[in-house]
Amino acid sequence: MRVAIVTGASSGMGKEFSREIAHFYKHLDEVWIVARRAERLKVLADRIEKRTGTLVRVFDGDLAKDSVYEKMKEELLRRRPDLRILVNCAGFGKTGRVQEIDAGEQLGIIDVNCRALTRMTLLCLPYLSGGSRIINAASAAAFAPQPGFAVYAASKAYVKSFSYALGEEMKERGIYVTAVCPGPVDTEFFLRSGELPGEGRQLCRSDVKPVVRKALLDSAAKRQISVYGAPMKAARIFAKLLPDAAVAAVMKQVNHI
Ligand SMILES: NC(=O)c1ccc[n+]([C@@H]2O[C@H](COP(=O)([O-])OP(=O)(O)OC[C@H]3O[C@@H](n4cnc5c(N)ncnc54)[C@H](OP(=O)(O)O)[C@@H]3O)[C@@H](O)[C@H]2O)c1
Repeated sequence: MRVAIVTGASSGMGKEFSREIAHFYKHLDEVWIVARRAERLKVLADRIEKRTGTLVRVFDGDLAKDSVYEKMKEELLRRRPDLRILVNCAGFGKTGRVQEIDAGEQLGIIDVNCRALTRMTLLCLPYLSGGSRIINAASAAAFAPQPGFAVYAASKAYVKSFSYALGEEMKERGIYVTAVCPGPVDTEFFLRSGELPGEGRQLCRSDVKPVVRKALLDSAAKRQISVYGAPMKAARIFAKLLPDAAVAAVMKQVNHI
């Protein structure tokens, strides 16, 4: 049985990945979708099933807690699927100065963006096989230290680094890992994170569809990184050229901190 797993499927990019994946991977038998908001997942599952005929299983739960992994482990053991693609998309951020943001919220960012993504990957690795893909939602925030978005940017630097290293390790098994590094994307993300100041960011904001489409195409092309749009490609080059201290000082100005 060929399966795709998508976390963060109740909203934004994860929802779009869930919708697109059944089209993109023609021979999938099931899509397993994960997030906390069960009602949204059920509605999405119904729509995908009606549109594509692919069965969708809902795993509602908090990725910062154990129970959702236990449910998934049980299903994996029972069904022993051929996992064609894992999309780790759940994540969130919080803007502001480190000393001013609630400590629990900041540690929660690390729990979901880093720990949960790693835990889900480790759980799924035995079920991936030659030609399987992992897509990890990193961010253009991974390119540079970001005063005003410090823990989030650091968490995404982890995702980018982990994805490159895992991809290298997985080459022998024919499994390809892509870190998706978009700039601002028009989703509910900013309702929770708060807005970073700066008109440039508003101008650079992308629609979710082309970002996800590019990520799927880059993953199919076995690319290690997917960066949508010229401004973010330029930001990546800029961050590579300057020392970290200089980039952090520039980002402090850009973020008005
Ligand atoms: N939007 C952007 O500008 C942007 C740019 C670069 C990268 N990214 C990254 O892309 C990914 C998707 O973001 P998005 O823009 O699509 O944001 P979004 O619309 O807010 O979606 C975030 C998803 O993560 C899930 N999630 C959050 N915490 C969770 C938890 N504890 N347990 C289970 N699920 C959890 C949410 O589901 P529930 O609330 O239902 O649990 C939701 O489905 C994130 O990793 C984000 O950091 C976003």
